[in-house]
Amino acid sequence: MSENKNPHEKVEKNVGLMAVLIAVAVSFGGLAEIVPLMFQAEAIKPLEGVEPYPALELAGRDVYVREGCYNCHSQMVRTLRFETERYGHYSLAGESVYDRPFQWGSKRTGPDLARVGGRYSDAWHRVHLINPRDVVPESNMPSFPWLEKNQVDGATVTRHMSALKALGDPYSDEQIASAAEDVKGKTELDAVVAYLQGLGRHAPRGGQQ
Ligand code: HEC
Repeated sequence: MSENKNPHEKVEKNVGLMAVLIAVAVSFGGLAEIVPLMFQAEAIKPLEGVEPYPALELAGRDVYVREGCYNCHSQMVRTLRFETERYGHYSLAGESVYDRPFQWGSKRTGPDLARVGGRYSDAWHRVHLINPRDVVPESNMPSFPWLEKNQVDGATVTRHMSALKALGDPYSDEQIASAAEDVKGKTELDAVVAYLQGLGRHAPRGGQQ
């Protein structure tokens, strides 16, 4: 018997060897999914019309991240029928090439926001952010009343845009030079609303695919 051991038995009785082989087997799954993406141009190419965020939207996005909106809201419509019927076309990689860091997420205490742009008026968003219960009585979303009082800081937006440009985002020098002027006199509430209204702007039309 023992001189005729089958190789499987050898692996099963050697924990070190088994661990190494498991690691190799598992890595194959990861490699098969990840490596092709590195060579697929579409995965890193902006979808047609997708451009880096204008100054005010960029400022709004920073507020979104600072306030932790992502803790309750995802920004990724999955490729499932009930999702596309509710939210619209499923999300595409090329829509978020200028999102650093991306806001896809999976936690949905509130609805997905990837396609929320244009769904409500600016006025609705303003009331909703200051006190959600004024427009959605049963809402358990927190109120963000301070957004209306805080001014957007032009110097911060300008520096942020320069940093993104250094990372490869195609901002023009004129855009960076006029950023502070673009956000002058704007509140953080103006900025978040501009950001929300831009979400999904470049999504392909139609709910089904
Ligand atoms: C504690 C969880 C929570 C946090 C944090 C949160 N939300 Fe919400 N949000 C909700 C819930 C729940 C709803 C659904 C009820 C409603 O419309 O108020 C919602 C709804 C929304 C809607 C309407 C979406 C739709 O399709 O009807 C928008 C827009 C929104 N939130 C934006 C934000 C923004 C911007 C922030 C950060 C400043 C934020 N939320 C933070 C829970 C949250």
